[in-house]
Amino acid sequence: MCGIVGYVGDGNAKDIIIDGLKKLEYRGYDSAGIALNQKNNLVVRKKIGRIANLEEMIQGEDLTSHIGIGHTRWATHGAPSDVNSHPHLSQDGRIAVVHNGIIENFVELKKWLTEEKGITFKSETDTEVIAQLIGVYYEHDLVDAVYKAVEKMEGAYAIGVIAAEEPDKIVAVRRDAPLIVGLGNNCNFIASDIPALLKYARTIYLIENNETVVITKNEAKIYDMDRNEVKRDVFHVTWDADAAEKEGYDHFMLKEIHEQPKGVYETLTRRLEKGGSIKLDGISLTKEDLDKINKIYIVACGTAYHAGLVGKYAIEKFARIPVEVDVASEFRYRDPFVDDHTLFIAVSQSGETQDTLAALREAKNKGARILSVVNVVGSSVARESHDVFYTWAGPEIAVASTKAYTTQLICMYLIALYMATQKGTITKEYYDHIMDELKQLPDKLEELLKSEKQIEEIAKKQYRQTSVFYIGRGSDVGISYEGSLKLKEISYINSFAIAAGELKHGTIALMEQGTLVIALATQDKLYDKMLSNIQEVKARGAYVIGLAKKSNTAIEEQADDVIYIPDCADEVTPVLAVVPLQLFAYYIAKLRGCDIDKPKNLAKSVTVE
Ligand code: F6R
Repeated sequence: MCGIVGYVGDGNAKDIIIDGLKKLEYRGYDSAGIALNQKNNLVVRKKIGRIANLEEMIQGEDLTSHIGIGHTRWATHGAPSDVNSHPHLSQDGRIAVVHNGIIENFVELKKWLTEEKGITFKSETDTEVIAQLIGVYYEHDLVDAVYKAVEKMEGAYAIGVIAAEEPDKIVAVRRDAPLIVGLGNNCNFIASDIPALLKYARTIYLIENNETVVITKNEAKIYDMDRNEVKRDVFHVTWDADAAEKEGYDHFMLKEIHEQPKGVYETLTRRLEKGGSIKLDGISLTKEDLDKINKIYIVACGTAYHAGLVGKYAIEKFARIPVEVDVASEFRYRDPFVDDHTLFIAVSQSGETQDTLAALREAKNKGARILSVVNVVGSSVARESHDVFYTWAGPEIAVASTKAYTTQLICMYLIALYMATQKGTITKEYYDHIMDELKQLPDKLEELLKSEKQIEEIAKKQYRQTSVFYIGRGSDVGISYEGSLKLKEISYINSFAIAAGELKHGTIALMEQGTLVIALATQDKLYDKMLSNIQEVKARGAYVIGLAKKSNTAIEEQADDVIYIPDCADEVTPVLAVVPLQLFAYYIAKLRGCDIDKPKNLAKSVTVE
């Protein structure tokens, strides 16, 4: 969701900020804007739509400045429009604000500002309240005014503020929304995420909740709520600048699909000792801790939730502990049964998903031990967990998650195997067998990616479909959900996933001549059952694309098209089976002319409830 970039230094603020905003496009947005300080005047330019619209609008204008803030907005309060776009100005035009998050008491603050302070609002946003509030408190000291305003603000936010009278500084505040500071050469930055800064700064400060930051060209200082300076260790970013570039691929999504062998390899091998045992960096769960645990919840949203479904299979099978998988937005409101015998596993690529964070806090308050599987280092979910297990996917830019998912699956297997060895629920032979299968996955993923052309050809036959069904059994059910989500989010085709055995209990009524069914039959022990399910839908006229292991060719007699994955143990098929579904969704969306990396209405990091 919304992205923030701020710059102060010797360079051209406008160009640097717009470049940074482009690197945050993946977060999802519907308008963009920039505020620059030119000779003690704040110049604001903002435009609905893509950053390119903003660039077109300001083309040829002299907007030279050495300090400014920029924003990509994902509408919450007030429709996407030029006027609701950020930055917002105070009534006297002397304060400009960009904001990511929600001000929960904005109605009350707006009333106070209107009735008591005579402010006339221009937009429908909660953000304008922040600008007006800081404007009301401003007496030639921006830091002081921001502190006073923040005292009144409730909600989750990260803000960046500049003042016309103080052309040397940006003040920023973080409360439950991401904010980092980049330390450059004769320049400093604020941003919502690392990709915005990769080209300019590799040394960063990760800002904590309730901290205020003041950056000038030569200094970046962090303060706590009581205005005491806080010392922070720097964090060195190891990704190269190319990590946030498309590198010749048409879309980030395709690049990220192709990065899966590497992501899986990194996530796995960094955790393996020479002898094959698992070294869980970031996890301090001992045998005693595990003996105390009688229940595990895996809680997440969207694709990360689907990774949790596979995690349940793995943990229950290897470690014999009951696992419940829950959608985060539901978990927190159903008074879940959690106590100090509960292990709560949060799965999140961004580590900033508000629903997941809120569920985590609910479980933590009730005494659960919190373990998180997160991709973004230093994110909120990571910071609030007792143990953090990082996926090594690298930055995921496309809104549709692909490589984060497969690396989350690897983390799930490693956690399950680690628990199993600690609890003694797995034999050495079985452990070695699964470990061997996991180690072969990067090569098998490479082999599988060679089917890309075949999948593109199948997509060419199907891209005009208006609805698609995904069916599977066992761990293929979770993969069906994930394949269906991928398709609907980037191609806008109405798709639906269901356990194949459930079809006959209602959904089969929808099968008719030409209905497209994608049947996942990767599980050896459920293969024959799946062939029967395929026959059932074929008998009602469905067109079936089957997915099976290379050696299981009987499916060719039932399905109209078959995509094969390399042979492997049933336990690890999810890591392979999802890839053809990602590619299928990608090519369908491409053929339909969709904006694949930035699908409509979606945001990469969902920081609102
Ligand atoms: C789908 C997708 C979303 C996210 C979900 C959770 O492709 O990306 O469903 O998986 O919004 O996001 P994280 O993992 O950042 O918590």
